[in-house]
Amino acid sequence: MSRMIITNAIKSKEFGAIINIKGWVRTRRGNKNVSFIAMNDGSCIHNIQVVVDNDKFGDEYLKPITTGACISVTGKLVESQGQGQSVEIHAEEIQIYGTADPETYPLQKKGHTLEFLREIAHLRPRTNTFGAIFRIRHQMAMAIHSFFNDKGFVYFHTPIITASDCEGAGQMFQVTTLNLYDLKKDESGSIDYSNDFFGNQASLTVSGQLEGELAAMSLGAIYTFGPTFRAENSNTPRHLSEFWMIEPEVAFNEIEENMQLAQDFIQYCIQWALDKCQDDIEFLCNMYDKELIERLKFVVNNEFQKLTYTEGVQILEAAVGNGHKFEFPVGWGTDLQSEHERYLVEQHFKKPVILTDYPKEIKSFYMKQNDDGRTVRAMDVLFPKIGEIIGGSQREEDLDKLKDRADEMGVPTKDIWWYLDTRRFGTAPHSGFGLGFERLLLFVTGMSNIRDVIPFPRTPKNAEF
Ligand code: 4AD
Ligand code: MG
Repeated sequence: MSRMIITNAIKSKEFGAIINIKGWVRTRRGNKNVSFIAMNDGSCIHNIQVVVDNDKFGDEYLKPITTGACISVTGKLVESQGQGQSVEIHAEEIQIYGTADPETYPLQKKGHTLEFLREIAHLRPRTNTFGAIFRIRHQMAMAIHSFFNDKGFVYFHTPIITASDCEGAGQMFQVTTLNLYDLKKDESGSIDYSNDFFGNQASLTVSGQLEGELAAMSLGAIYTFGPTFRAENSNTPRHLSEFWMIEPEVAFNEIEENMQLAQDFIQYCIQWALDKCQDDIEFLCNMYDKELIERLKFVVNNEFQKLTYTEGVQILEAAVGNGHKFEFPVGWGTDLQSEHERYLVEQHFKKPVILTDYPKEIKSFYMKQNDDGRTVRAMDVLFPKIGEIIGGSQREEDLDKLKDRADEMGVPTKDIWWYLDTRRFGTAPHSGFGLGFERLLLFVTGMSNIRDVIPFPRTPKNAEF
């Protein structure tokens, strides 16, 4: 008999039908005569209840069916009398695939801390919480492709191994096959990379943007969606060393259109979550964050607040003047810390904020310079509870200005000759941004640590599993 997934079984109205389900035992309780087994197969947050007549199978046979065991049950679908469930299965046949020793299976009782579950990341998808999170993660990936596909964007695959540091922040993980136990250096102490695998120094990408720009300048509108890597020693609830980024890039878009695209994109994804992940989001709302659904709806229904960095700093300085204490100083020219971003979003405007026109010194070399000579056409989208969720900009399309900025910021232009070629041949205004996938998931799930929205988090001093 072919298997029915539990999400379909609990919606089925074919009472009396014989069906087969397979899954993992969440709990077994009961008495001398009857056992109730709650089973989950990952297809939805809900368990299905299996009712077992103990005499029919015998205690010895039923004994190994404990929390964590994997079983197959064939039986009759019956309308349930019990509270909180619509159907149950009256078992006729039970096959045990795998047992889980109660002495050693770590997911015995409910209420494990998220910290503990991180240590057993290989088993945590079997909990309600992580089942919900990873189903939502999947749905958000689908939403992203759907949004861009509907708009005619091309999904463009940028390389993971690269020789260029897009953000120029020196946070790259090196990729090498050189023998680290016997590293040859020349007289000046430099390593000769011509003997390395790629014949030059190579690293894992921090962003697909530079290659994405090349693609936009031929295909018109593209997006990337892939893993990116940062060897940034930030042990915070919002930073990963390996995270997924979505980077749209659009020829002829100026910053205003870029901002609109960012808002439409995020709102579309959140609406998708509200529509398609209802049960999972309700579960997370009840368990972790009572205001989650309200917050999601609010973001879908309200325009983001747009203002310049300069205006943002003025608001923050006024807050300091009124006695608000920040850990880090505020002042024009300094990069905003998460606490500053969250003040603007949560305390001042009480809605998502798009900050534009940052000082050029604190942004990357490729951003379009404003006529004031001090600021660039950058835009950061700031979200409640998260801070920065998107970073983007209009790009500098003028070859000389771009080269000057690269020189000033110490970006070696000889290595990015191919990038500069887009400005040499048929240059045009264009814009794009990067959305941190896990930051979006933090917002959508209401979780507070980024380690809990990616299956196997990589952070400083941790690459287990
Ligand atoms: O602001 P960032 O560094 O911008 C770029 O990489 C640009 N090349 C994007 C573009 O214009 N195409 O990173 C973009 C976003 C951030 O806003 C944040 O959401 C996320 O990526 N991000 C991280 N997420 C998790 N862990 C980290 N260490 C992250 N660093 C950035
Ligand atoms: Mg940024």
